Amino acid sequence: MTVTAEFLTALPKCELHLHIEGTLEPELRFQLAARNGIQLEYASTEEVRASYQFDDLSSFLASYYAGMEVLRTEPDFFDLARTYFERVAAQNLTYVELFFDPQAHTARGVPFDVVIRGLRRAQQDAQNRLGIRSALIMCFLRDFQAEFAMATLLESLPYREWITGVGLDSDERGNPPSKFAAVFARARAEGYRLTMHCDVDQENSIEHIRQVLHEIGVERIDHGTNVLEDETLVAELIERGIGLTSCPISNRWVSDGTKATEITELLRRGVKITVNSDDPAYFGGYVQENLQVLAEEAQLTEQDLITLQRNAIDISWAPPQVKDDFRAKLDTLR
Ligand code: ADE
Ligand code: ZN
Repeated sequence: MTVTAEFLTALPKCELHLHIEGTLEPELRFQLAARNGIQLEYASTEEVRASYQFDDLSSFLASYYAGMEVLRTEPDFFDLARTYFERVAAQNLTYVELFFDPQAHTARGVPFDVVIRGLRRAQQDAQNRLGIRSALIMCFLRDFQAEFAMATLLESLPYREWITGVGLDSDERGNPPSKFAAVFARARAEGYRLTMHCDVDQENSIEHIRQVLHEIGVERIDHGTNVLEDETLVAELIERGIGLTSCPISNRWVSDGTKATEITELLRRGVKITVNSDDPAYFGGYVQENLQVLAEEAQLTEQDLITLQRNAIDISWAPPQVKDDFRAKLDTLR
């Protein structure tokens, strides 16, 4: 181990790729099921965890969406996010941008308003009680039609002040970024910041990265490590300061490994790459565990970990004061 556990814990952390629905631990799933009178098909939390046997993005997504059935009311969404914030406070996480998937709820009959009010209340509670600042990024599900994404965008407008940006997630196969060009153009016009998933080792990964950069105009890319297959695109990321939000432990579940080699190469070459947790309850690692796995596999130094956090705050959409405060904390570590 190149860095100590003490250093890893003390390091101030900024997380930019966290699906709040992916923080639903089996324990809370049972509690919410009981509260809502839902009978789960599992007898215990161990059984739920044992069912996590994904080996690609699609098999993970099936489990992820099934878990959400227990999220029904405003207090459910509040408790989901509150539990997450309490857990990462112990990891010295101080700023996080949370993805949420409204269509995964509205498609089940849960109103948009219920989802966002619960999350918003938990954000305020986390700021007041734990000192964690956060922002919301609304993701569209790419395996649904673009018209549904557009309707969701319009539905979000009354809550515009609560949502910092929009993203694109779910099953990438056959669902290229270009399918959502009009939705993202409208989102930009409404003042939302833009990001999109380009998951690891997808069919047409490079073409999708090209589209997000040239046709959509994203400000950063979620995952995106396949960019190394195209030198021109790597140069463009560096030149434009466009960052990547990588997720080592998630990569291990949905591809052939953590992609530590690729992440480290991008870091060394000056791409603003960051380390994140994606869906920690399903993949078994929050932000600190992801940093630890990468540090061990790639023999990172303390300075490398500081650079990863500096990258994260640089490419984040935090207000200037939050960025300054975070950088000041990092400076005390040098
Ligand atoms: N939704 C939740 N996690 C995701 C991921 N890693 N890729 C695509 N969609 C997701
Ligand atoms: Zn993701």
